[in-house]
Amino acid sequence: MENVENKLEKIVSLAKRRGFIFQGSEIYGGLAGIYDYGPLGTELRHNIKQYFWDKFIAEREDVYGMSTAILMPKRVWEASGHTELFTDPLVECKICHERVRADQKDAIADHESAHKKDRSTDSRQEKAEWSEPKVFNLLVETKLGASEKSATEAYLRGEITQGVHVNFKNILDSMHPKLPFGIGQIGKAFRNEITPRDFLFRQREFEQMELQYYVRPDEKSSKEQFEYWKNFALEWYYGLGFKKESLRLRRHAPDERAHYAKDAWDIEYDTPFAGWKEAWGIHHRGDWDLRRHAEFSGQDISYYDEDTKERFIPWDIECSGGVDRAVLFALCEAYREDELGGEKRIYLSLKPQIAPVKIAVFPLLKNKPELVAKAREVYINLKRSMLHASGFMIVWDDNGNIGKRYRRQDEIGTPWCVTIDFQTLEDSTVTVRDRDSGKQERHKIKELDKYFGEMLLKT
Ligand code: GAP
Repeated sequence: MENVENKLEKIVSLAKRRGFIFQGSEIYGGLAGIYDYGPLGTELRHNIKQYFWDKFIAEREDVYGMSTAILMPKRVWEASGHTELFTDPLVECKICHERVRADQKDAIADHESAHKKDRSTDSRQEKAEWSEPKVFNLLVETKLGASEKSATEAYLRGEITQGVHVNFKNILDSMHPKLPFGIGQIGKAFRNEITPRDFLFRQREFEQMELQYYVRPDEKSSKEQFEYWKNFALEWYYGLGFKKESLRLRRHAPDERAHYAKDAWDIEYDTPFAGWKEAWGIHHRGDWDLRRHAEFSGQDISYYDEDTKERFIPWDIECSGGVDRAVLFALCEAYREDELGGEKRIYLSLKPQIAPVKIAVFPLLKNKPELVAKAREVYINLKRSMLHASGFMIVWDDNGNIGKRYRRQDEIGTPWCVTIDFQTLEDSTVTVRDRDSGKQERHKIKELDKYFGEMLLKT
């Protein structure tokens, strides 16, 4: 039986050991809530982002892609309501002055139990003593410009959304879209989270993938669009290889909704570390953003409908997902421990499409030049044909015995290992080993491209 308790610790350790994810600026003691992606984490994250781009943008006729700036002037965030309302309740422990989010029961409980342990020699300080909750704004502020006097107050965007809304008029004027249409984007967002925690789950710098879908201001049809996109985002998550029972949709209670939302649902993942947690937020934002930007900028941001001869401000249906949360949840969903051939192993049962490495190629023995030469030929040909066809990552490994190489690839989630052995030299076939079952089959070298192409479509 798997030990769920420390699954997150095991994933953090694997992520570091195998070059997926590191604590940001680790050699200087790290920075809370900040992470760096290593070579394999970068590939995994790239594959997830690519899947978002394909499904939400490239495969559609009604959605444009954009890439907007991280730094935006203060006025944008006043218009969007974030300077006033993008806040969390904060409490401070009067004994040790640590600040914690008042609505995060797990953070409060962690602090209280640490207190008991750390202060058990001084009975007066054994209990944490909390201040009254205060309102804390999450936006990360900065100043731009060389002189103190003329410096412009700016913010690192707290959500990538506003970059799209402030460009709504530019998109109308340059692309002339007809409603309903969407604008999708992937990019970094920054929040001064009071209690960053649970690895990639709550960070201060993270990446979002979003769709703003603009519709006519009409209750009935906007509700239908809302339903459509809610299910579309859920299906997208299943497409990453999640089991049905690992995900659910949950509606926000009215007092839980963000200030811009008329209706809000989360897609939640059943995490091994904290139960059901948000993966995507689906929001009915109504005309909140465009109306406020029109008011604050003094510009006309309305849409003119050529067919009905009406002018109005469209409503916005938003799908907003965390890229890093998708990486973390995919790792949680894929992490496995089992026994194969009498040996314990750890493997990541990642869906092949998102696995950082798709194929590893090995010569059976490193000290047999004829095997190495043949294996290099297979490796280079596979790389040439598959890399350019579909952005495949294929690696070479001749280090240690074959069993060790399989274990190494299992641990990073490589779905297929190709081994060149003595039989290859006679009949031009290789073994292809499947990660999850450990089973091996022989395939003709000249049919490998076709085989892997079909396998990727099948899974
Ligand atoms: N534009 C709407 C918006 O930003 P949100 O629910 O605040 O809505 C959307 O965030 C998604 O961004 C979340 O579902 C989550 O996946 C991700 N996210 C939010 N805060 C995060 C954080 N501190 N660390 C990592 N991901 C975060």
